[in-house]
Amino acid sequence: MKIFIAGGTSGIGLAVAKRYLNNGHNVAICGRNQDRIDKIEKSDNLKIYKLDIYDNEKFIGAVKDFSHGELDIMLVAAGSYGNSRTKKLSLMEATNMLKTNIVSTVNAFEIARKLMIPRGKGHIVAISSVAALLDYPGCSVYSKTKRIVINLCEAYRAALSDYGIKVTAIIPGYIDTLKLREISGDVSNKPFIMSEENAAKIIIDSIEKNVDRVIFPKKMKVLISILSLLPKKILSLILLRKKNG
Ligand SMILES: NC(=O)c1ccc[n+]([C@@H]2O[C@H](COP(=O)([O-])OP(=O)(O)OC[C@H]3O[C@@H](n4cnc5c(N)ncnc54)[C@H](OP(=O)(O)O)[C@@H]3O)[C@@H](O)[C@H]2O)c1
Repeated sequence: MKIFIAGGTSGIGLAVAKRYLNNGHNVAICGRNQDRIDKIEKSDNLKIYKLDIYDNEKFIGAVKDFSHGELDIMLVAAGSYGNSRTKKLSLMEATNMLKTNIVSTVNAFEIARKLMIPRGKGHIVAISSVAALLDYPGCSVYSKTKRIVINLCEAYRAALSDYGIKVTAIIPGYIDTLKLREISGDVSNKPFIMSEENAAKIIIDSIEKNVDRVIFPKKMKVLISILSLLPKKILSLILLRKKNG
């Protein structure tokens, strides 16, 4: 298969790329930071593009160069996240979240669907977050953008099912990536934190099974479903106290 991972030069996206490569597939990854790209082990069936997926023209060029019209999977792993407290968010951080998490995700979906419709097959996948599942006063801009990612998956799934194109929303809890460590420092206190490798396995299994959405780890899924039952004000008190604590 030909798999393009938008934002696969580190973290979850890179772990998925490695797993697909080990299984003999052709994989393309992209990212903006050259240092990250330089550290990646090169192989014959891996293509790496240095680009910002917000730049639609460059993004289209890379996907066409890689796929020659035959794209099987487009996975959007790129995401912008940082300080989760909206009160402390800078304009630049907020704008980056909107550009990467929303506009660039739409860029990826549109590029993929144009290549996949003529073939009558393909799979579009985007990584959201469990943060998107809880709606309460004080919920972060990041959570709201990730909620939109889930909504985009639903909209494209409905629009593209007649063309044989599948859409899966990946909804992870805490995954032990370098980026999470950079932001949070000690990640050992993060509930049910999972390794990148285990996350990659679940993501690839979910794509193979063509599930509409997957929420993991399982214990996080249970916790979220219990928290969702609480009145929004109580939920707000619990989660904001936890964030500020
Ligand atoms: N780690 C977690 O605990 C967790 C939990 C839930 C959801 N998620 C979501 O999972 C995804 C991956 O997270 P991660 O922890 O693996 O982060 P990460 O290590 O920072 O990986 C993000 C990748 O996307 C690339 N990227 C970001 N913005 C881009 C852009 N505009 N254009 C091109 N490439 C871009 C990054 O490279 P450059 O920066 O060099 O461009 C990097 O390769 C994100 O969407 C995140 O919101 C993560």
